[in-house]
Amino acid sequence: MTKLSIIAFDGTRHELEVQTGSTVMENAVRNSVPGIEAECGGACACATCHVYIDDAWTAVVGAPEAMEEDMLDFAYDVRPTSRLSCQIKMSDALDGLVVHVPERQA
Ligand code: FES
Repeated sequence: MTKLSIIAFDGTRHELEVQTGSTVMENAVRNSVPGIEAECGGACACATCHVYIDDAWTAVVGAPEAMEEDMLDFAYDVRPTSRLSCQIKMSDALDGLVVHVPERQA
């Protein structure tokens, strides 16, 4: 198990204990975190699971792969810390990860 914090747009902090290997999106949906729509179910084909990686974690999480980067073009208010949460798999290295939900999805 690893820890994952998802901060909703209204500032509500969702502190989750999650399975290693699960994605950030799956955990957001499972725990009814508002603002993560995930319309394509995690296929990197919708950009409605957009999140911002907390500044303290951007180097650990790393950059998106080409397919994700292309899909991010369809997200709302994309920033350098933007990622699609269905493409981030929890691992021991990400224990304690913090992500922020944007104001809205595309
Ligand atoms: S759930 Fe569709 S791109 Fe992540």
